[in-house]
Amino acid sequence: MCRYNLKLIKSTHFRVSSSTEIKKMEINHLLYLCFLLVLILTKTTPSDEDPSVIISRFQQYLQINTSQPTPDYHKAVEFLISQAKSISLDHQTIELVDNKPLLLLKWPGSDPKLPSILLYSHTDVVPSEQDKWTYHPFAAHLDSTGNIYARGSQDMKCVGMQYLEAIRKLKATGFQPLRSVYLSFAPDEEIGGHDGAEKFADSDVFKSLNVGIVLDEGLASPTENYRVFYAERCPWWLVIKAKGAPGHGAKLYDNSAMENLLKSIEIVRKFRASQFDMVKAGLKAEGEVISVNMAFLKAGTPSPTGFVMNLQPSEAEAGFDIRVPPTANAEALERRIAEEWAPASRNMTFELGQFKQKASIHDKFGRPVLTATDSSNPWWSLLEDAVKSANGKLGKPEIFPASTDSRYFRERGLPAIGFSPMANTPILLHDHNEFLNQAEYLKGIDMYESIIKAFASYAQHPKDEVARDEL
Ligand SMILES: *[C@@H]1O[C@H](CO)[C@@H](O)[C@H](O)[C@H]1NC(C)=O
Ligand SMILES: *[C@@H]1O[C@H](CO)[C@@H](O)[C@H](O)[C@H]1NC(C)=O
Ligand SMILES: [Zn+2]
Repeated sequence: MCRYNLKLIKSTHFRVSSSTEIKKMEINHLLYLCFLLVLILTKTTPSDEDPSVIISRFQQYLQINTSQPTPDYHKAVEFLISQAKSISLDHQTIELVDNKPLLLLKWPGSDPKLPSILLYSHTDVVPSEQDKWTYHPFAAHLDSTGNIYARGSQDMKCVGMQYLEAIRKLKATGFQPLRSVYLSFAPDEEIGGHDGAEKFADSDVFKSLNVGIVLDEGLASPTENYRVFYAERCPWWLVIKAKGAPGHGAKLYDNSAMENLLKSIEIVRKFRASQFDMVKAGLKAEGEVISVNMAFLKAGTPSPTGFVMNLQPSEAEAGFDIRVPPTANAEALERRIAEEWAPASRNMTFELGQFKQKASIHDKFGRPVLTATDSSNPWWSLLEDAVKSANGKLGKPEIFPASTDSRYFRERGLPAIGFSPMANTPILLHDHNEFLNQAEYLKGIDMYESIIKAFASYAQHPKDEVARDEL
């Protein structure tokens, strides 16, 4: 507002000097004084870039109930479009699936031939058990210590808004990007991203963006170091089945289905412990080991009151959620499953088809699905320097323990970095009383301002991109 008033004063001056009538001059002088008064008054009105105004925009986004399974996507998109308009970004809404809008914003670069930058975020959040929260999950309550409580404050409405705020700041400084910068606000990440990021990454629209680097979500960090992610573990959902002779519940005999399944469970648990021990001993980070947890056990002969107790059943089944880092030896794990966890010699069945889900640890070029974090990846070096120059500290790059939408981009051979700038913050995604402190949020905007500036100014074609063009 202050800026607009200054412009008005200037034009008033011009009119004064071009006028010849004294009366008019007096009126103009009066007008000039009025404008000065307005200027003084508006100085106390908050501007677009005041921290309190920045925080209130974040709260507005948080207050939109985009909770699965019935997120109000249209309201979120409408709000984001109003934000995009206020900073003059081009916008386009894409519905790859009906009623699941993906909002795409564009800040055009001066060299459209250079691969672009994609600032990715999802608009949906996980459900919340309202009665377990101190403040309503969509109130975005700001407490006296500056904590903002809301579902999505960490995962990941913070990041989506921080991108926009960083661009607002860059525009205010007059910065012009060399590369085009896109922002996508996608639906459905919290339910697997199949109707969101997966279809988007497959679309012609995405192809036309010529994306060179993707930024996506990371995790909060309780220490002063930001966490940053270059890969994620691939989910393998395994079901093993045991068969054996049925028998009386009182009889001791070998090779019952239950006994055979329990032997497998013991072996799986030993493997689990050996992986977990490496984490406990500090030898490996959580994302670097293969995790395996039993998700279900299915056995027994139902009766009207529960289960028949004096019968050993002829079949038993167990399901495991296995997470495999792309750095692991997948063939060795498959052998282990076939030979030790579900061996035919113990009348166990395990077929590849019994994986309820099995994500490949290789991208479409046959390389491990990960983004390099060394000098071979210029984006990595740019990010490291940009965070440092904004007075942020990066921890050692990690493998994300669960799944994010980044995998849909990495699978296509694109570099994707998971980074949610939240230091000194407990990890509360999907938890009750999820919050982010306003000071951390504001600091995060500075990080993105620095990163976006560095990425958008990067003039060279990275080696990787040249290689992909040749394919
Ligand atoms: C969010 O909206 C959904 C669908 O309308 C509703 O079921 C849910 O209770 C809302 N959540 C909260 C915390 O208000
Ligand atoms: C496997 O099943 C066969 C046929 O039912 C049975 O004879 C054999 O004892 C079983 N072996 C084991 C290890 O369960
Ligand atoms: Zn998320």
